[in-house]
Amino acid sequence: MDKEPASVRPVFPKSVNFFRPVVGTLLAAVPLYIITLVYYGNSAEATRIGYEPEQPVAFSHALHAGRLGIDCRYCHNTVETASHAAIPPTETCMNCHANIRSASAKILPVRESHATGMPIEWVRVHDIPDFVYFDHSAHVRRGIGCVSCHGRVDKMETVRQEKPLTMGWCLDCHRAPEEHLRPPELATKMDWVPNEDPFVLGKRLRDENHVNPSTDCTTCHR
Ligand code: HEC
Ligand code: HEC
Ligand code: HEC
Ligand code: HEC
Ligand code: HEC
Repeated sequence: MDKEPASVRPVFPKSVNFFRPVVGTLLAAVPLYIITLVYYGNSAEATRIGYEPEQPVAFSHALHAGRLGIDCRYCHNTVETASHAAIPPTETCMNCHANIRSASAKILPVRESHATGMPIEWVRVHDIPDFVYFDHSAHVRRGIGCVSCHGRVDKMETVRQEKPLTMGWCLDCHRAPEEHLRPPELATKMDWVPNEDPFVLGKRLRDENHVNPSTDCTTCHR
């Protein structure tokens, strides 16, 4: 057996051995982290789940969409035809509030907006980065309900973000959309539940409607 000659000394001082496992772990972890980032898109930034900004008018979805049962499309009337879901102009509110509770202090900013022509400055809740392409109509018309991505808005006094909206979250559904599919005409029905196994129904809807979400980078990054 060869014996290590006494003249050969380790290049690093002994104390470095202590760092070895740390460096080793880092070397192993960094590529893993990058792969995870690209593959799942789990950005290291905190997602904005629970983000619930205060709005300039105490408009309640729980009242209007929930108790009064106004369909989402009455106000967000472009969800089926455009990439963005329109926020209703003051005129839509005035269809009712010209008469309903028109003397209420809570309606005052709506009447002011109507009188001056200055739009109400609603604060944006959901916001994905500009380098990501998203399209509402592509989802709503293929049978993904609002509730899958926004939660039970019809029970919210103030709208808050319920889902992470990260790349990993988008891709999870694009890889396996079955359990989220419903007949497209029920997209805005927030309390709808299938009366059969959701996966079996989803698989059938997927086949019938040829639903095939793409996972190519260029689908969302153009
Ligand atoms: C009477 C009109 C009206 C109806 C009906 C309505 N909305 Fe809204 N919605 C608004 C207004 C006004 C805002 C902007 C203020 C706010 O965020 O509350 C808004 C905001 C939102 C937002 C947040 C937008 C953002 O900034 O990210 C979502 C999501 C949303 N609505 C979903 C729905 C869904 C789902 C339904 C049906 C269940 C619905 N809305 C029904 C008027 C309406
Ligand atoms: C289809 C009719 C309709 C539309 C459209 C509508 N509302 Fe209402 N809104 C109502 C009704 C009904 C009430 C409940 C009145 C009551 O409690 O007596 C109400 C209540 C409210 C209240 C609470 C008023 C108070 O004094 O408690 C606010 C604020 C309000 N609406 C804002 C809005 C805004 C902003 C819009 C437009 C984005 C809008 N509404 C669109 C019917 C409507
Ligand atoms: C597949 C997921 C998904 C579905 C289904 C979906 N949304 Fe959204 N919604 C989003 C995302 C993501 C954003 C943020 C878009 C952005 O930042 O450009 C958003 C934003 C919005 C906004 C703010 C305006 C805008 O377009 O940026 C409104 C209002 C809204 N959604 C309403 C609805 C309604 C109503 C439905 C059902 C008819 C619905 N959404 C279905 C994911 C979804
Ligand atoms: C709950 C399921 C679900 C979620 C979440 C989801 N998608 Fe989709 N997406 C679909 C389905 C289903 C389709 C339609 C596929 C088809 O038409 O065959 C689609 C289609 C698309 C298209 C249209 C591609 C085209 O051909 O025009 C884009 C773009 C897209 N999604 C981007 C996104 C982005 C970005 C996110 C995340 C912010 C997201 N999606 C989240 C299910 C989902
Ligand atoms: C279904 C839609 C979708 C597809 C397909 C997609 N991305 Fe993304 N990507 C997103 C969204 C949404 C974000 C923003 C995530 C956030 O803000 O947390 C994002 C962010 C990113 C980022 C920025 C890093 C980060 O986490 O913020 C990179 C890099 C990226 N994507 C690369 C890719 C590559 C490479 C592919 C193809 C393998 C791909 N994406 C496919 C939706 C998608």
